[in-house]
Amino acid sequence: MKKRNILVLGSGGREHTFCWKMAQSKMTNQIFVAPGNAGTAALATNLNIGVNDFEALKNAVILHNIHLVVVGPEDPLVNGIHDFFLQDEQLKDIPVIGPQKLGATLEGSKEFAKAFMSRHNIPTAKYGSFTSETLQEGYEFLEQMTAPYVLKADGLAAGKGVLIINELDKAKKELYKMLIDRKFGKASSRVVIEEFLSGIELSCFVLTDGEAYLTLPMAKDYKRIGEGDTGLNTGGMGAISPVPFADEKFYNEIQETIVKPTIEGLKKDNIPYLGFVFIGLIRVGDQPYVIEYNVRMGDPETQVVLPRIKNDFVAMLFATANGKLDEVELLIEDQTATTVVAVSGGYPETYEKRKKIDGLDSHPDKTIFHAGTINADADILTNGGRVLAVTSMGENHQKATAKSYKTLEEIHFEGMYYRKDIGFDL
Ligand code: AMP
Ligand code: GLY
Repeated sequence: MKKRNILVLGSGGREHTFCWKMAQSKMTNQIFVAPGNAGTAALATNLNIGVNDFEALKNAVILHNIHLVVVGPEDPLVNGIHDFFLQDEQLKDIPVIGPQKLGATLEGSKEFAKAFMSRHNIPTAKYGSFTSETLQEGYEFLEQMTAPYVLKADGLAAGKGVLIINELDKAKKELYKMLIDRKFGKASSRVVIEEFLSGIELSCFVLTDGEAYLTLPMAKDYKRIGEGDTGLNTGGMGAISPVPFADEKFYNEIQETIVKPTIEGLKKDNIPYLGFVFIGLIRVGDQPYVIEYNVRMGDPETQVVLPRIKNDFVAMLFATANGKLDEVELLIEDQTATTVVAVSGGYPETYEKRKKIDGLDSHPDKTIFHAGTINADADILTNGGRVLAVTSMGENHQKATAKSYKTLEEIHFEGMYYRKDIGFDL
């Protein structure tokens, strides 16, 4: 078997998990990460290049003889990194895992995603879409809805662009702020107003080569900073896979009404798509509805999804790149995986960086996935809001989380915080 060099883009727990899984593959020669973190540095070569610096990435791909590029975050995809590769004489034959700009619009524009779902009869909240020119219609639309009101900036707003508001007056004021004052910059030059759906959320991940697809294990993430799902939204404080309430009937419902029509819809619309589709779902009664599409894996969901996949991950990715995903049989570990995220004090608001992390060396088992960490001489320092994700496996989520908590008790950095109730609602 020919050994391959792989470049991973990103610097979070998701990317460390990619590297960890790739390092177990027989097909892997060298792994490079741009820009990576202290965790990826232990498994791969970190390159000091930003994910949106396409020219510098091109040079690195050529210099290091890269055979496959795997894009972690959405930003470079929405900015057209895959298109950049396809249009470049020297790069066009190097496969990129992640959709081209058009496919990435499923995440880059809420209105595009809603129109896609409506065209293909994919269940989702009813909606209207408004700009500064149709502000008045937006007010009227709000008047016809019942509280709570869901307002979404159309474009990428670093996870902050969704507002859920209880009073009509306040919703109207926020709509004005978004459209006229550009509260979220260009991202809110268009606003999608949605019907509020009440239910429990889960994340569904699909890997597709554009024709065939594999539905990866489902996961549930815990987005709020506080225990009992209270306080501000974060990038994700923990995750669990499988999701106990996604029984066979519900799973089949997701396949038939959402996954299949999504992949077929992409084909019907001539939207080329190679990579991960992350479908944010909500269960209302017995029915799944789509809350949003993302065009990448989730973080911290990856930290529980990949450890449950027994296949050679690199082989899976090359099968995707070569249009041969129909030949891959997905093998899933029955055990439950949980991850608990340790964050910097103050996150998701302001927090300090560069705090020394102790207690990591006692855990050479590589299921401590790094997010915001950086090497400084012999130390590992915090370098972001989400710092570490500790993944454990167990017979059930209680047993698995107990292991993660035990590991976390031995890790320390100033201001360290983590939720002690991951899985509380299951
Ligand atoms: P999004 O950025 O689209 O994932 O939205 C962020 C969060 O807002 C979601 O994870 C949901 O918890 C919530 N949300 C979004 N849309 C709706 C909706 N239509 N009804 C209820 N909650 C929603
Ligand atoms: N955990 C949610 C996300 O990755 O967007």
